[in-house]
Formats: sequence, structure tokens, C-alpha cells
Amino acid sequence: MGQPWWREGVLYQIYPRSFADANGDGVGDLAGITAKLDYLQWLGVAGIWLNPINPSPNVDWGYDVADYTDVHPDLGSLADVDRLVAEASRRGIRVLIDLVPNHTSNQHPWFRERPDFYVWADAVPNNWQAIFGGGSAWALDEERGRYYLHNFAKEQPDLDWWHPEVRGEFERILRFWFDRGIAGFRIDVAHGLIKDRELRDDVGSERVHSMNRPETHEVYRGWRRLADAYEPPRVLLGEVYVLDIPAWAGYYGSGSDELNLAFNFALVHADLDAEQMRAVVSATEAALPPDAWPCWIGSNHDVGRLTTRWCRGNEALARCALLMLLTLRGTASLYYGDELALPDGHVSPEHVRDVAVPSRDPCRTPLPWTGEGGWENPWLPLEDTSRNVEDQRADPGSTLHFTRDVIALRKESVDLRSGPYAELPAPPSTLAWRRGNGTVVAVNFGSGTAEIESVEGAIALATDRERQGESVGGRLRLGPAEGAVVQR
Ligand code: GLC
Repeated sequence: MGQPWWREGVLYQIYPRSFADANGDGVGDLAGITAKLDYLQWLGVAGIWLNPINPSPNVDWGYDVADYTDVHPDLGSLADVDRLVAEASRRGIRVLIDLVPNHTSNQHPWFRERPDFYVWADAVPNNWQAIFGGGSAWALDEERGRYYLHNFAKEQPDLDWWHPEVRGEFERILRFWFDRGIAGFRIDVAHGLIKDRELRDDVGSERVHSMNRPETHEVYRGWRRLADAYEPPRVLLGEVYVLDIPAWAGYYGSGSDELNLAFNFALVHADLDAEQMRAVVSATEAALPPDAWPCWIGSNHDVGRLTTRWCRGNEALARCALLMLLTLRGTASLYYGDELALPDGHVSPEHVRDVAVPSRDPCRTPLPWTGEGGWENPWLPLEDTSRNVEDQRADPGSTLHFTRDVIALRKESVDLRSGPYAELPAPPSTLAWRRGNGTVVAVNFGSGTAEIESVEGAIALATDRERQGESVGGRLRLGPAEGAVVQR
């Protein structure tokens, strides 16, 4: 029997304002995504997840939600969501959206009408620090003469997840979107919802009371029951920004009663260094309960693009990183542009739109569709279009074709889709692992040649496209920044 689609398939993250612009106003939109579904189908992804699409004053570009059950007019309407879901489904692509349950916008009607939904204190009660803006996470509400909690910007008040009606509202929101055919949620700040009941001080830089409370797990057990009651079951994918791997793994619960997937930020924070990567992968494999399934990313709208962050622009290394993400045991989620080895864009100080310092805008610039860009006056600058969809699609030797071929190989190979992971001995700078019985993957992140012993079969796919089909009789030789999949 096959596994659920989100285990076997590959996910693709879309930052809607920067993916594709259908109405030519310089801001990407839902109709733009719909218009590019043929491209995503050609690439072979099984699901897309969209950064927030809800109405928002955009202090934090959608992560300050003013209405959870509507669409920001810049991006379209609920009818556009329905059209996107229907058109995606015709192409075998599922649509997940971002849910921001930790905080709302201060412009959400709840903030005025239901102050009891938020976390308040008569005086600053503790040392909690805001992630944006610096300083205390408590701000004075002049009107009420009391302080409210904001773990992020002061325009993003934190909800009080001890409040049963807050929980009830979110169950209603989950159902609203599930009933519309949304396949699941990427859950923002998934580890943050519950705050320490006594508002005790955080310890050093560890957010042990302002976030990471064990009581949060109960919320996900409830959501999982709700998501599993749908047919097909809906997917919960958490932004569990927890670097301690056993604590992170806890968000999978027993393996089948909390989140279905959680992004692995320990890998994101590792360098593209064989020792560091191996350590994260083996700790992850050891920590996850048997029924749980890893989820790998190298880029997103916060941490930057892997081609810049891990590979300093080097395209051969980016292919190695993509090969690793797509062939480890688990679901890979690519960030729009990863498939082109797109580096971070350049955003000069006068064009910065982000609330965070340093700005995250360089990884949010528009996707270059053609050598001219394919955008008119985009909301963030698009300068370098040298790696663009049109040119790479026309070139079978491109990274785009490479990425597509890895995704296709994964579809064909039961080992790559679902085979167990086993670490293999490999020389320094090199990672090698077995999937299932008949597949070995090896990548060389180093600048010298490396040889991996005891590999038998033929190269099914390699970052150097010329090597495909080469037979391997015991020793796999990899040049610098080279990787290969060998099948028996
Ligand atoms: C998450 C989002 C990030 C946002 C923050 C506050 O980390 O990924 O973009 O700024 O939450 O909502």
C-alpha cells in the first residue's frame, strides 16, 4: 500500500507576492499561481504551501493577520482560492496555506472586541524579549493602561492559548479552510502558542516560558483528530523552530497523534559540511518515533536561499544540496527558485520592506521567469535574472532539469520514496547513505576528489549529467561538489 501523498511527494513553498503576477500590478497573486500550475506540474511537485494569504496591514507581510477567513485583496479573493485549489487538483497538486495562530494583527477586531483573547499584565511582568524591534515583549496599550504581550512586533499581539474560546475559534478556522478543500496548514511559530501560566522569566536566551511550553502538545493532539477526520486526512506541517532535536521531535507526539511534519531547523542551521549534516540527520533519525516522517528544507522566506546561505552562489554545490534534501528519508520542501539554484536577490536599503533586522527581503524577491524577469515594477526589486525559468527550461543540462529529474527519480523509486535510511562510511567532506535495499546516494561537499567504497550498480542520476548510466563496481569516485544516486 502506498503512503500518504505528503510523504512520497515533494512540497514547494510559494511566497505569493513574489511568485507570479497575473494582473500586472507588481504584486504576485493567487491568479498568478494558478497560471503557473502547468510549470509546477512539469516540475513534479505534489503540493504547494503558500505564505499567509489573509487580509493584513502587512507590518510583517501577512504574518499579522486581520481576518483568518478571507483573502488579502492584493492577492485575490476566496473565489481565487477555490479556482487555485480546483486547477491544482486537476494536476494532482494539493494546496496548503499558512496559519498564524500565535498572534494576530493589532488591527484584528478581536484586539478591540475581545481583549480577553490576548495576554495582559498590569506592569511588565518578566524579561521576555520581542523578536522584532528589540526590547521588552510587553507594550503598553494606552487606552487600557495595561501591557499586552508581543513575542514579535508590537503590532502582533500574542493570543492567550489558555483561553478555551481562542481554541474554539481556531478549530472553526481550520474547518473553514479544510471544508474549502485546503489540504493542510503550515503552522507559523508552532512551538509558541502556549505561554507560561505564571509568566516566569525566560532563562538566558532560552525561551523556556515565552515559548516551547509542553502544554502546546495538547493543542496539536486536538487539531490532529480534527484533520484526520477529513477524507483525505488533512496535513499539519509545523514551523517548529526548535534546534534541540529531541524536543523538536516531540511535536510529532507518538508519531501519529500530533503534527504530520515539522521543518527540521537543525539542518537549516548546520553548515553545508558533511560532519555537521551527518550529525543532524542521524540525530533526527534516532529521535523520531517509528511512525514519524522527517521534513527537510534548505531555504525559506526567513532564513534565506540555500544557494547563497549554504553554497555561496556555487551552482554545483547547490545541486548537491538539492540532491541531499530530495533523497534523504522524508519530505523535502523546496522554496520557489531553489529549483534554479537561485541566489538571494539584492535589495538596497531604500527598497527594504521587511520589519526584521537584518531584512529578509533578499530571499523574497520576485521569481525570474525570463531573462527580462517577467515582472512590471515588482514590489521588491528584481535585478539578477541570469538564473531564470525560461532559459533553464530550454537547457536540459540546467539545474532546473536536474531538480525535475531528481523529483521524477524519487517518484519511480520505492527506495527513495519510502526506503529506510542507513548511514554509510564516507571520507571527509562526503556524505553517503543507503535508502532501502538497492539505492545509495553520495555527495561530496569538498573541494577534492573523494572515493566511496562498496558501492555497486549504475549511476541513475548525477549532478554531472554526463555521468548518468556509468556503472559502479565497488568504488564510487566523486569530483569536488559532485553527487550521485547509484541503483543496483
Ligand atoms: C514565522 C514566520 C516569519 C514571521 C514570524 C512571525 O517565523 O516564518 O516570517 O515573521 O513567524 O509571525
